[in-house]
Amino acid sequence: MVLIAPSLLAADLGNLREQIKLAEEAGADWLHFDIMDGHFVPNLSFGPDFVRQMRPLSKLFFDVHIMVENPLLFIPMFYNSGADMITFHYEATSDINSVISELKKHNLKVGISVKPDTSVTMLEPFLNDIDNILIMTVEPGFGGQSFMRSKLAKIAQTAKMIEGRSITLEVDGGINLQTADDCVQNGADVLVAGSAIFKADNPQAIIKQMQNLRRK
Ligand code: DX5
Ligand code: ZN
Repeated sequence: MVLIAPSLLAADLGNLREQIKLAEEAGADWLHFDIMDGHFVPNLSFGPDFVRQMRPLSKLFFDVHIMVENPLLFIPMFYNSGADMITFHYEATSDINSVISELKKHNLKVGISVKPDTSVTMLEPFLNDIDNILIMTVEPGFGGQSFMRSKLAKIAQTAKMIEGRSITLEVDGGINLQTADDCVQNGADVLVAGSAIFKADNPQAIIKQMQNLRRK
């Protein structure tokens, strides 16, 4: 099964209630929140109160991707926000172990993301302690960018690295029906898609088609 995580960054923010309902009724698995601080990435988006206010609107798994410098400072703001997992960036802290233990202490699932130029082998020391690896296939910061095909090999390398472990392999950035299939063929389990879903004429059909992709 491929899990689909629609990214609210591309949703119609004036109609969030309907947009979330639409994703949920289409069978989306996770809901992806892109949190940006204007430092780690050159853009601003949502904060913890945004996540908190969405919580009553959905039963979906809340997949919170924090693109922020100094995650240890910001993570406590997400306690009791309804987040199920927080995925932080390898590049954003020099103290990965403290971030992991802080998240675990608060019963949050732990994800680590790597930017396109960061080698995924950097995550090897943490494989016993994490639930999710998020491979960025665009430079983080903005929706609607083109998928970096050169990262397909990195997805395959990650799949091999985590084989036999209960770690999900999530891919984020430039996912559409074609690149979704390419990611699945290389071992991705979870696909984040913003524009391809929320800017589509029929978002529900896109979610269903992505969900039906299978590794050949
Ligand atoms: C980019 C974000 C992505 C973004 C993806 O920094 O992490 O989650 O919403 O958007 P699309 O699917 O439009 O590339
Ligand atoms: Zn994201």
